[in-house]
Amino acid sequence: MSRRSRTHRGKKNTYKTGDRFNKQAKEEGYRARSVYKLSEAQKRFRILAQGQRVLDLGCAPGSWARYAKEVVGGRGTVLGLDLQHVPSLAGVELLQADAFEVTADQLLEALGGPADVVLSDMAPSTTGDRFGDHVRQIRVARRALEIATQVLTPGGNFVCKVFDGEEAHDFVMDVRKRFDSVKRLRPEAVRQTSVEFFVIGLGYTPLAEPAGPG
Ligand SMILES: C[S@@+](CC[C@H](N)C(=O)[O-])C[C@H]1O[C@@H](n2cnc3c(N)ncnc32)[C@H](O)[C@@H]1O
Repeated sequence: MSRRSRTHRGKKNTYKTGDRFNKQAKEEGYRARSVYKLSEAQKRFRILAQGQRVLDLGCAPGSWARYAKEVVGGRGTVLGLDLQHVPSLAGVELLQADAFEVTADQLLEALGGPADVVLSDMAPSTTGDRFGDHVRQIRVARRALEIATQVLTPGGNFVCKVFDGEEAHDFVMDVRKRFDSVKRLRPEAVRQTSVEFFVIGLGYTPLAEPAGPG
């Protein structure tokens, strides 16, 4: 193996060369290898089911959205949102918008009702500054959690990408406050060089409103 195909930490760098997940995605017609992160989460935790309404935050180029549509089927709804334009995907509603600007009402209207599942693979463009990238990604993950609490139906599920680092633990604890069960998953398809993992919240429980005066 050439020296260039390893990172300075000695980990295998598959960004340029591709790996078995790139090959599989190409063969199976998915737009990105990241589909195998969601499919592993689905196999392990049964996040998605037929007939559900699914919101996919940060959906470009569209592999999670297509996978979700395959699981929810013709009676289900998948709404994908991204800053970037996403070429049309059979059976998937697409919204080009910033997750920080879109409102819960807009999402609920586009979904046709509360979501059963909120997926977020959102990530800012990375700069190579690990701490800065981590902080920016946690901000995006927190926005995904906020949206989830506004649009999820009680009992709904949440999958959210996180770049590990010093603020990750607090974020996971905040997800724990809202879901019956919370798992951490680092799917096989996550690249060796990446610090990403996924927080999976199962069974959304809205926080009780504080009692009003009197
Ligand atoms: C890793 S990609 C998602 C891949 C996708 N899950 C798939 O399988 O095709 C992350 C996406 O998050 C999007 N993103 C980042 N910040 C966002 C924001 N504030 N609002 C909407 N999308 C955002 C990026 O534009 C990018 O397309």
